[in-house]
Amino acid sequence: MRNIREGKALNPRRRVRPPPAGPDSGRACDRDSSSLCNVVSCCQFSVDEQSSKPYEKVRLPITASLEVLYTPRRTELGTNWPVGKRPRVGSGVVVGGQRREKKGARDKVSPQDKGGLLTHVLPSPAEKASVVRAMFDRIATRYDRLNRLFSFGLDQYWRRVTVRAVRVTAQDRVVDLACGTGDLSALAARTGARVVGVDFSGNMLAGARQRGIDALFVQADASSLPIPSQWATVVLSGFALRNLVSIPAVLAEAARVLTPGGRLALLEVDTPSGRILRWGHQAYFTRIVPWLGSLLSDAWAYTYLPQSVSYLPESAELQSMIEEAGFLQVGKRQLSGGVAQLLTAVRR
Ligand SMILES: C[S@@+](CC[C@H](N)C(=O)[O-])C[C@H]1O[C@@H](n2cnc3c(N)ncnc32)[C@H](O)[C@@H]1O
Repeated sequence: MRNIREGKALNPRRRVRPPPAGPDSGRACDRDSSSLCNVVSCCQFSVDEQSSKPYEKVRLPITASLEVLYTPRRTELGTNWPVGKRPRVGSGVVVGGQRREKKGARDKVSPQDKGGLLTHVLPSPAEKASVVRAMFDRIATRYDRLNRLFSFGLDQYWRRVTVRAVRVTAQDRVVDLACGTGDLSALAARTGARVVGVDFSGNMLAGARQRGIDALFVQADASSLPIPSQWATVVLSGFALRNLVSIPAVLAEAARVLTPGGRLALLEVDTPSGRILRWGHQAYFTRIVPWLGSLLSDAWAYTYLPQSVSYLPESAELQSMIEEAGFLQVGKRQLSGGVAQLLTAVRR
């Protein structure tokens, strides 16, 4: 088998090499209880066995390697699901961060679906976590480049705005929720802050670790963080909300790990309110991004990603979820004409 991107022979049993041993590796933790140790198995920062394993050696299963080689053609998208797991077709509404089908919508077939092409690829809540995780594992190697391409480089500008908005300094302890390949973690770490990036995709984390960012990257679910209560002074998250199974559960975890007065910044895509911009944005994200994504990476993923915006609750609902999780001063700022949004809040 060959790795298409690198043109190298691909060994399905290959292990991603662990990061070079740092000064802390292999020695016992000697930090005080308010700080975070770099030793993954440290007593103060108990990453459970299951979480820490893929962290050190990410084993690419044979199926994952095959997925790298095999990107389903557009006409096959509707059939590459296990029996009974085919994504639902139709429009939906979002309740509590979870997409629910509108009455009767399941039977609705769009013109494209009639021709055997799948245009709605959103997984149900029950399968969402495993589908999303497998998808990010699949697209991890090209994720950063396609992000820059599809956003015309704006994604990094939005991340800089996010880190500035919560005034991260060297005194801060930052948790980057669903950190992916570590873009936000890198910006936060540049300030001198102690940074922990958490994500459930082993391959996205492997990408983050390869970048030599001065941060600890931990594999875990954002709704169950292996981080002590009130450890963090800042919690950041970039483009994760719509990929979560339960936004309230993750907000509750963010509230738990933050100290009182700690700052929260959530960066997400948004839908522009202006009519013309909304029309152009819609056309770009529902036509051009999936088409280019299918050529350059993974057809399913780049059909899912624009559509996953429909998982996002309405702005007012999202802001009240943040308040209910234990935050004050909840604010929303639109970025680049409403293509992205930045939600900030302070822990009560
Ligand atoms: C669109 S990427 C964003 C990555 C990064 N934050 C950025 O700014 O580019 C979404 C990330 O969320 C992660 N993710 C989704 N649900 C998660 C969960 N429940 N727990 C941990 N990570 C999750 C995915 O693995 C993926 O890396």
